[in-house]
Amino acid sequence: MRVGILTGGGDCSGLNAAVRGVAKSLMHQYGAEVIGIEEGFLGMIEKRTRPLSLEDIDGILDKGGTLLGTSNRANPFDFGGKDVSDQVAEYYNELGLDCIVSMGGDGSMTLCYEMSKKGMNFVGVPKTIDNDLTGTDRTFGFDTAVNIAAESIDRLQTTGKSHKRVMILETMGRYAGWIALHAGVAGAADMILIPEFPYDLDEVVRVIKDNEKKKSYTVIVIAEGATQKGGHMVTDKVGVDAPDPIRLGGVGRFLQTQLEERIDQEVRTTILGHIQRGGAPSPFDRIFATNVGAYAASLVASKRYGRMVTVSNNHLSSVLLEEVAHNTRTVPKDDMSLVGAVSMGVSFGDPNLKVSLSDLKDGDVKMS
Ligand code: F6P
Repeated sequence: MRVGILTGGGDCSGLNAAVRGVAKSLMHQYGAEVIGIEEGFLGMIEKRTRPLSLEDIDGILDKGGTLLGTSNRANPFDFGGKDVSDQVAEYYNELGLDCIVSMGGDGSMTLCYEMSKKGMNFVGVPKTIDNDLTGTDRTFGFDTAVNIAAESIDRLQTTGKSHKRVMILETMGRYAGWIALHAGVAGAADMILIPEFPYDLDEVVRVIKDNEKKKSYTVIVIAEGATQKGGHMVTDKVGVDAPDPIRLGGVGRFLQTQLEERIDQEVRTTILGHIQRGGAPSPFDRIFATNVGAYAASLVASKRYGRMVTVSNNHLSSVLLEEVAHNTRTVPKDDMSLVGAVSMGVSFGDPNLKVSLSDLKDGDVKMS
């Protein structure tokens, strides 16, 4: 058995743990040859691969980043304006691979699905700090990112309280609010603004003024993809050479400017950025990524190609890549973190978002 592994798209903590999980399981159980593909699909385009030995994957479980490197600019169907997908399929055959285990987000899964039409076999492993992949309840990298964001909120709480300020923390998460929601709940934020519920500026101002009277300061977590009602997402860069050419960023400062015209309290903004993606994975992500990696090896061993590993109701399973491709999983209204936060008076910037606890029945809400 000869199996390639690649890591594509933005990196996240836990990638090395997952690579180790796949490689060690396949080597230990089947004596498989494992080939590391460098920098995601770029390695397939530029023919940069190397055999992985046990020594290569030793001591990487707790390391951030990815030992294989990654790229979110390598689309074989549009590589510098050229379609090199046939060339990639030829290289796959040249390498004599049975399958490639591809670790990525929705962009990578979409590429795998499209490339599988060229006769290549793939098994997908979901990873992204954004936790926004369809078909799975969780992705590794998310827990570590939430830990970092929650710790940052803890720190903003104490300095915000000391100075009686409005503290805004902008998190990543692209078009989904998972990181902001979980970190906001874990860090006891007063307000959590996420893309799923466009915020009403009057409501944000109302909460701040109310807090000023009650406890003198306010902590707001805002996801980079959040928008004002009737407004647009705030972008940092457009036209990036990547399958998703939009880079979000700056909505925290945008909100700060809006608030400064409406309130007297001082407002400060922190943009967390790539700190959420780097560094050692949390113990949860180490275990989760290892298990997901070993499960991906089982899909390879049983030749269940064209599928991505998923977690559903705490069980490992898999879905067809085509079900994941071109989709995003956002925060649903029946998410318990959302429902719980609303029931405790956390504002999501939408005065119409209400919860009636007495109406909740067993099974109505879902843990995330
Ligand atoms: O998808 C992961 C992610 O970190 C998003 O949360 C963020 O919007 C984006 O990637 C940033 O991408 P880049 O590293 O290219 O700036």
